[in-house]
Amino acid sequence: MRILRDISSLGAWRRDMVFDARRVGFVPTMGNLHTGHMGLIETARHHADAVIVSVFVNPLQFEDRADLARYPRTEQADIEALERAGVDAVFLPTETTLYPHGQKGMVRVDAGPLGERMEGAARPGHFTGVATVVAKLFNLVGPDVAVFGEKDAQQVAVIRRLVSDLDFAVELVIEPTHREPDGLAISSRNRFLSDEQRRQAPAVHRALKRAAESLAGGHSVPATLAGARHWLSQQGFDVDYLVYCDDERFEEQSQLVPHGRLLVAARLGAVRLIDNLAVHTPQALGPTAERVGAAVS
Ligand code: PAF
Repeated sequence: MRILRDISSLGAWRRDMVFDARRVGFVPTMGNLHTGHMGLIETARHHADAVIVSVFVNPLQFEDRADLARYPRTEQADIEALERAGVDAVFLPTETTLYPHGQKGMVRVDAGPLGERMEGAARPGHFTGVATVVAKLFNLVGPDVAVFGEKDAQQVAVIRRLVSDLDFAVELVIEPTHREPDGLAISSRNRFLSDEQRRQAPAVHRALKRAAESLAGGHSVPATLAGARHWLSQQGFDVDYLVYCDDERFEEQSQLVPHGRLLVAARLGAVRLIDNLAVHTPQALGPTAERVGAAVS
């Protein structure tokens, strides 16, 4: 596996790929790699001849400095995991490599209104930070295909718009959320859960599944959401939001739409968990619709 730390060695590796006519698959990460990332890498391999992973804890997407400081950095373990996974190259830039003029005053990619809702409202500037670094990485890596996880569904929506609005010639592949056997979405943040919180945490996914079943049972969106929020609070969570929105613009909906999604962010002590569940209806259904299929994401 090639370990690339600067932009010129990354450029040379990319030129070799072009020369060898190899299709490049890219998995951007912030490191602390877990089985969810390994799934993204496996998927990238199915769509490409060579796979490159970036590991960079992007300061631009952390509005909370304390959150940035405590984000787990496990470079050596990450390199070993990527070697074992048979990845072709890893890009490990420093902050100075990616932001040589500093972050203050730099040109950024505005994630637009989509980036201001839900996670964007809870974390102002987060999605602009994500869109900016992903745009830079796409420019530097020049991937044919890039793989992102559905666990961060709003991030996926922002990146889809980024690719479409700014004409990036990259194919996006979205990998379904990897879960623990009890349903908890796999995330780097799970390591901060105490034993007790770890036992409580699967309730986040359960709340979404119950809400999807409630919609499938013909209950209204507002009643379903109120019930799910109440149930999750009873399980010991502080609910930031639990909403139903359309899957493209992430606008909250009070009636079923053909491509909808339930989204939740909830806190257990200092640990904030997010999750989501696609809720597809076979056709545009009205408020009295009785059938709705929930796709567990
Ligand atoms: O999902 C992540 O790990 C990050 O938001 C990403 C896409 C690597 C950008 O920093």
